[in-house]
This record gives sequence, structure tokens and C-alpha cells, in this order.
Amino acid sequence: DKKPDMEVPCRPELFDFHGVSMISAFTDNWENVQNFKARPDDILIATYPKAGTTWVSYILDLLYFGNMGLDRQTSIPLYDRVPFLEICVPFLPSGTDLADKLPTTPRLIKTHLPVQFVPKSFWEQQCRIVYVARNAKDNAVSFFHFNRMNLVQPDPGDWSTFLQEFMEGKSEFCLVSVKKQTYSNLHYMFYEDLIEDYRREIDGLCSFLGLSPSAEEKERVRASVTFDSMKQNKMTNCSTVAVMDQKVSPFMRKGKVGDWKNHFTVAQNEQFDEDYKKKMKNPDLKFRFEI
Ligand code: A3P
Repeated sequence: DKKPDMEVPCRPELFDFHGVSMISAFTDNWENVQNFKARPDDILIATYPKAGTTWVSYILDLLYFGNMGLDRQTSIPLYDRVPFLEICVPFLPSGTDLADKLPTTPRLIKTHLPVQFVPKSFWEQQCRIVYVARNAKDNAVSFFHFNRMNLVQPDPGDWSTFLQEFMEGKSEFCLVSVKKQTYSNLHYMFYEDLIEDYRREIDGLCSFLGLSPSAEEKERVRASVTFDSMKQNKMTNCSTVAVMDQKVSPFMRKGKVGDWKNHFTVAQNEQFDEDYKKKMKNPDLKFRFEI
């Protein structure tokens, strides 16, 4: 009998953490996360999970460090170049440790924390924040498949159970944020816009960042960040992550707009639209990263 390659970890349970559904991997290092010392030139990539974090992280990494030599591009996985601020799991450096030790400037740091949990030093230092959002239906589908394949994520159950919990704001990191702030150093990006007109979106991003890459540099970045390139690239496809079972669903799954149509039943779609409309009309509801 073939032995399994690794001990299969227990699926974590979600719990309520100050009004947000979380798993312990994202709260165990809470003090260090909250006291994290951001630097003025740090760039925070803030997203709801599965909204296009990896794509935008890699774009930023290449825009800043694409000329640093092949070694970096072929030997350092993206998750080590762009630390995941709140993550803390056994046997790996925490996101805050990794960020503290990053040798490159500016530091690119990713977070899924809703706005009220973002460490205050990011606001105090007036760091630039790139927020990436995605159509909620596609986002839910992508998250469902991610939780199926990532053995250290909560068990998503079947699609209808997952969707119900997603709509109720019970899935990880919730969708609703509570705090309003005034902040100008924020650039919103949308997954669908990137698919629709990549060049326009990159120009907008570069202008926010104060970067002016040459046409050749831009083209090099573009070619490296296509879905197919990133799917083949071991530094971006998470093939080195043991807890992800890519046979269940690949990390670089489809990369399409509208895959929700292959998952939602007509009734689920109607319920989703109804619920969405109701939420949008609720004056007390704040968007996840409304500031
Ligand atoms: P799908 O599951 O719909 O394929 P995140 O990085 O936030 O975890 O988001 C993952 C989603 O972004 C996945 O969506 C993944 O395929 C998609 N994605 C990643 N890189 C992409 C790219 N270069 N082009 C299009 N989609 C990409």
C-alpha cells in the first residue's frame, strides 16, 4: 500500500472573532499583526480571498523587482516575496516575521483583513493600499473550490451549504466591514477590469504608484502574468504547497469571468440577487473596504 505523502491535517473550524469569521491561523499572531510596524513606502495589497490577490501581487512584484535577476524569479515563491501579513502556521515563519525580514524595498505585503483590522501603522504611515475586488458570485465559486483543495482551510461542505454561509457573511473574513475612515492613498482594482483591459488597468496602477516602466518592461510583465504563464510557473502556482491538493482543484483554476453561471442554480441566483439588493439598500451596511 502506498503511504500518503504527508499527514493529512485537521480542517480548522471557523469562529467569531470580534464579529468576523476567522480560523486560528489568522488570529494566533494577533498582537504582532496589530503592532506591526509599517514603513511609509510599504504597499499593502488588500483583498477578499480569491479576488485576484496572487495576480495583482505578481504584477506588483514584477513592476518593482522584475529586473532583479532571474534567480529571484525562479527560486523564491511569490508567497515569500509578498508576505501574507496575518498568517501564522506551525513550522513556517509568520507573515509578520517574513515581512520584517524582507530584503527588498518597497515591501509588498498582502492581507485579507477587513478594514477595521488593518494595523494602524499602515494608516499612520500613509502607506499606499491597492484593494482588489471581484464579482461576488465568481468570488464565492473560486473560494468554494479553494477550500476544497486547501486542507488547512475550513471544509466548505457542498456548494449550496457554502453559498448559504457565504451570503450570510459566515465564511472566513466576512464581507462586511464596520469602520469608516478618511484615506486617500488607496487604489481600487477590479478583477473584471483587469480581464477586460489589462493595459488600461496597469497604466492606472503605475500612475498610482508613481512608476513609469518602459513599453518593453510593461510587455515583459504582461507576458509573465497571463493566466497560462502563471499556471505553468512554479513560483506562482502553489505547486510547492504541500497542504494544497491540486488534484482536487488547481490553485490556478480557471481565471475567467462568469464561471458562477456553471455553479449557481436559477433559484440560487435569484436568492443571491435578492439578498444583494437588500444589503445594498441597508444604510448601516458598510463595504468591506469602505474608508
Ligand atoms: P478562479 O478560481 O476563478 O480560477 P487569489 O489570488 O485572490 O487567491 O485569487 C485566485 C483567483 O484568481 C483564481 O480564480 C485564479 O485562477 C485567478 N487568477 C490568478 N491569476 C490569474 C491571472 N493571471 N489571470 C486571471 N485569473 C487569475
